[in-house]
Amino acid sequence: MTALRAEGAALAYGDRAVITGLDLDVAEGEVLAVLGPSGCGKSTLLRAFAGLLPVAAGRVLAGGVPITGPGRDRTLIFQDDALLPWRSARRNVELALAVRGVPRGERRDQARSWLERVGLGEAAERLPRALSGGMRQRVQLARALAAEPRAILMDEPFGALDAQTRAAMQRLLLGVLRDAPATVVFVTHDVDEALLIGDRIVVLGPSGVTAEFSPGDDPRGPILAELGALEPLKEEVG
Ligand SMILES: Nc1ncnc2c1ncn2[C@@H]1O[C@H](COP(=O)(O)OP(=O)(O)O)[C@@H](O)[C@H]1O
Ligand SMILES: [Mg+2]
Repeated sequence: MTALRAEGAALAYGDRAVITGLDLDVAEGEVLAVLGPSGCGKSTLLRAFAGLLPVAAGRVLAGGVPITGPGRDRTLIFQDDALLPWRSARRNVELALAVRGVPRGERRDQARSWLERVGLGEAAERLPRALSGGMRQRVQLARALAAEPRAILMDEPFGALDAQTRAAMQRLLLGVLRDAPATVVFVTHDVDEALLIGDRIVVLGPSGVTAEFSPGDDPRGPILAELGALEPLKEEVG
């Protein structure tokens, strides 16, 4: 079953074309890593899947249904957290449960259990401002998973973290996804991160997906070559 699909999708801001013809399938339960030079349209692609940017041509679909706007079946996570600052970590996660229709009396325990999965059992009652950047990203992840969306769209989620926290977050994400599989589109410009996180890796260029790799094939060299070939185009696109 295909969770997300782009069919000849053209993505643009007004008359500024970013991607001209994207064909892409994301299978249910798959973690797809999307790589590409800065400005190639990675965030734009996630915006289209999130329903925040209508396609200029072609179609984008979620669960086989054309995407016409944001929906709670798709959750976007980016570098800056979108936690409500006046609600504790737990109560931020509870929001996602409320939206999903989980009965009030069950939300607290479920939220705590999601926070425990991301190693934040002890910090559940803290406000976001009392959490580090990495911890806030973990709350976001817990909230996204609690929403049980069809797909989680992650836009360089660990890009603002220091190297050590970032490595810890990568390990944590892998562990959490092993226990609670989810469909993830993980955008990064870091080849090693893509190799670590992705079940499959695609490279995005101005005309769409330019190459696809399987992490098992030790594709680091070919990926770097592919990115190198795209880099000069960046000047034209960005
Ligand atoms: N709101 C916008 N209006 C016009 N152009 C935009 C907007 N957002 C992004 N762009 C342009 O679209 C291109 C792709 O941007 P983006 O998807 O953010 O790239 P990436 O995430 O791969 O770095 C860039 O050339 C960028 O300048
Ligand atoms: Mg981006």
